[in-house]
Amino acid sequence: MKITGYISNLRENILIAREQGKAIVLIPTMGFLHYGHLAMVEDARKDDEDREKVYIIMSIFVNPLQFGKNEDFDRYPRNLVRDSTLAQEAGVDMLFVPSAKEMYPNGQSLTTINVTQISEILCGSKRPGHFKGVATVVSKLFNIVLPDLAYFGQKDYQQFVVISQVVKDLNIPVQLIAFPTVREHDGLAMSSRNSYLSSEERQQAPILYSSLQEGAVLIAENETNADVIKTKIIDRISKESKGKIEYVEVRNAHNLEQIEKIEGAVVISLAVQFGSTRLIDNIILEV
Ligand code: PAF
Repeated sequence: MKITGYISNLRENILIAREQGKAIVLIPTMGFLHYGHLAMVEDARKDDEDREKVYIIMSIFVNPLQFGKNEDFDRYPRNLVRDSTLAQEAGVDMLFVPSAKEMYPNGQSLTTINVTQISEILCGSKRPGHFKGVATVVSKLFNIVLPDLAYFGQKDYQQFVVISQVVKDLNIPVQLIAFPTVREHDGLAMSSRNSYLSSEERQQAPILYSSLQEGAVLIAENETNADVIKTKIIDRISKESKGKIEYVEVRNAHNLEQIEKIEGAVVISLAVQFGSTRLIDNIILEV
């Protein structure tokens, strides 16, 4: 595995891989890798047992543009030594670890990508500017790498919908994969931010997924009222944990519009604060 912090060097290596006929795969991350990230590498490798057909680039960049002033940019966990070992073992071909100066030479980007409407709801209403930062950095990464395929975790489902909209609106020729959320043995969605949880918070956090599953069971039993599902989930989390609910929403999975009746592709998503840690999770159902 090669490691570079430089766009020019990355592009030189991509050119060689392209000349060898390889498909270029991008897995953007903010590092502090866990199995949720590594499973995407495994998936990209799955049809490529001789490791010859795809060229996998993983980026690690804690993007300042997507953090609000009082958010966790400074304390976001970073461990490049550990990350590079894990990435290499998983089969990454090139690790791209740019500095903020390499990505934003003037300290900022005068050009930003703002996806209206879907960036302003759910997590976006609590984190103004967050999705603009995400859409901008991901668009930059797409332009730097020109990937054929890019992977994003389904845990950040709104992020996936926002990026899909960017790709559609700006005609970016990349195929996006929403990779299923990888979970701990007790159901908690893997996240670099889980490392912030105290042991009591960690014990309580699986309630998020089990309450989402309870919602899914009710829907399977023919409950079609979105408010009933929301209320059940809110009640369960409030009763069984000290988590402070930011939102629980049942929405159309394609455009994130609010729905009253559950039908078609539906996403149940939630954000809950455990102490100083904000956790998100979701499930997608086809009804
Ligand atoms: O999901 C993440 O880790 C980040 O939001 C991403 C997509 C790497 C952009 O910084």
